[in-house]
Amino acid sequence: MSAAREGGPGAGAPLFELRGVSKAFGTQVIFRDVNLRIDAGQTLTLIGESGCGKTLLLKMLVGLIEPDEGEVRFRGRPIAQMDDAELLDLRSHAGYVFQSDALFDSLPVRENVAYGLVEHTDLDEEAVTARVIECLRHVGLSERILDAYPVDLSGGMRRRVSLARTIALGPEVIIYDEPMAGLDPQNITRIGRLIERLSDELGTTSILATHEIVTAFAISDRIAMFDGGTVAYTGTPDEMRAHPAPAVHAFIDEALRVVDELAALAAEAESNAPVPR
Ligand SMILES: Nc1ncnc2c1ncn2[C@@H]1O[C@H](COP(=O)(O)OP(=O)(O)OP(=O)(O)O)[C@@H](O)[C@H]1O
Ligand SMILES: [Mg+2]
Repeated sequence: MSAAREGGPGAGAPLFELRGVSKAFGTQVIFRDVNLRIDAGQTLTLIGESGCGKTLLLKMLVGLIEPDEGEVRFRGRPIAQMDDAELLDLRSHAGYVFQSDALFDSLPVRENVAYGLVEHTDLDEEAVTARVIECLRHVGLSERILDAYPVDLSGGMRRRVSLARTIALGPEVIIYDEPMAGLDPQNITRIGRLIERLSDELGTTSILATHEIVTAFAISDRIAMFDGGTVAYTGTPDEMRAHPAPAVHAFIDEALRVVDELAALAAEAESNAPVPR
C-alpha cells in the first residue's frame, strides 16, 4: 500500500470503495448493487435492520468474504486481485474489533493486548510491556489490570481491553462490529466517546456497524443506511436527520427524539437554575 501513500496508483482514491457489489447465500440475496466510498480520516457508521448485511460488509473490507459480483477496493486496488502479501498488508493496516470481545479467557490482560505485537513485531519483552501499558492508558485503563483475567473484568472493561489490543499495532483503520453491544447505557456512551477520541488522537479512520442510533449520530462524520439489500441512503448526521426518504425516518426518528427531548430537558434545567451570586 505504500505506493498509494507515496503518490502511486492508489493516490487520490478513496480508502475503501464498493462498486456494484452483489452477494447471495443460496437463494437468499443479501446485497444488490451496493456502492459505497469511505474516505480516509472519516468515521463512517453502517446502520440498518438486523440481518441486512452490516457484518458481511465489514468482512468484505478485509477480504474475509468475497462479493459474487462487483468489486471491493482498498486504495484503488481490488481486494480480489491481491496476493497473500498484499492481503496481509491490508489486514495489518485495518484493526478489526469483533462483535463479541474475542478475548482469550485463558490469558491475562497483558498477553491479550500483546498478542498482535508478539505475532507481528520483533519488539523485546520490555518494549512489548511498555506498548501494552500505553495502549491500556489510551483506552482509560490502568496497568494494575495487567495480570487480571478477562473473567475478572466488567463488560465495559473487557471491551476496552479488546480496543487496546486492536490499537496496539497502530492500525490506520479500525473496523468496529457492534462495539457497544451488550453494554449498559453508561458504558455505551463511554465506548462511543472512546471511539471518537481514538479517531482524533490516533488519526484513524473508523468504520462501525451498530444498532446504537444515538451514538452513531453523535460520533459519525457519515452514516450509511441499508434498505432493500443496498446502501440506500448516505449522508452526514444532519443530512440524514433532514432526509426526504420516509424509510430513513422510520428507522432513526424514535431514537433521535429521545436525544432531542433529553437536550431540551437539560437546557430547561439550566435556564431554571438559580443564578450564582
Ligand atoms: N457465511 C454465511 N453463510 C450463509 N449466510 C450468511 C453467512 N454470513 C452471513 N449470512 C447471512 O447474511 C445475512 C446478513 O448477515 P449479517 O451478519 O451481515 O447481518 P447484520 O446486519 O450484521 O445483522 P446484525 O445486526 O444482527 O448483526 C444474514 O441473513 C445472515 O444469515
Ligand atoms: Mg452484525
